[in-house]
Amino acid sequence: MSSASGPAVAISSPEGAGYAPSREPFGLVVIVGSVREGRFGPTVASWFVGRAQRREDLSTDVIDLAAAPDAQPFASRIDAADAFVIVTPEYNHGYPGPLKTAIDSAGSEWQAKPVGFVSYGGLSGGLRAVEQLRVVFAELHAVTVRETVSFHGARARFDERGQPRDRDAVNTAAGAMLDQLAWWARALRQARAVSPYGT
Ligand SMILES: Cc1cc2nc3c(=O)[nH]c(=O)nc-3n(C[C@H](O)[C@H](O)[C@H](O)COP(=O)(O)O)c2cc1C
Repeated sequence: MSSASGPAVAISSPEGAGYAPSREPFGLVVIVGSVREGRFGPTVASWFVGRAQRREDLSTDVIDLAAAPDAQPFASRIDAADAFVIVTPEYNHGYPGPLKTAIDSAGSEWQAKPVGFVSYGGLSGGLRAVEQLRVVFAELHAVTVRETVSFHGARARFDERGQPRDRDAVNTAAGAMLDQLAWWARALRQARAVSPYGT
């Protein structure tokens, strides 16, 4: 799948010099937010990562919060990334506690970078968890994108091979979210390079 965005358009920086966002692939980190025994999260995450890896405008790194700690610290992996997708379930109208712990373990590494969401759950499809995460990421000076992918009654929406039963709808939703993320990732990478983000 290719990006929907067209050719880069030169615009003026405050100093008057023209610049255009780089077309280099941006670094996407996908964070798997559920850690409990018997979790469904990896099925959702595997499908989404497969969709992301079809694109040529990004490279994908996956952080599974249930995995053993990596040699590279969490904050440095966040620092190296240009964009994030959080794969989150909903528990009692909120998002998982370990996900909050992980988010809070980094700080300025999140700043001026876009965040998208793939959510799942029972009736709500994880949308209440996502709305709460938007508030958290605003505090961290990150930019959350509007488009989301959500699965209501998640387990029933995937087949025995771990593929969504209603592929067209969710593939379209994933593409729309990744297109928005790509626009922000390229724009903010360029902006950070021109002028370090100050708080
Ligand atoms: C303790 C608990 C609370 C839950 N609360 C909600 C909820 O408030 N809203 C909802 O839509 N689904 C809720 N669910 C359903 C989960 O979102 C669903 O089981 C999901 O698959 C959990 O993700 P996981 O399997 O990756 O842990 C809850 C599940 C558990 C275990």
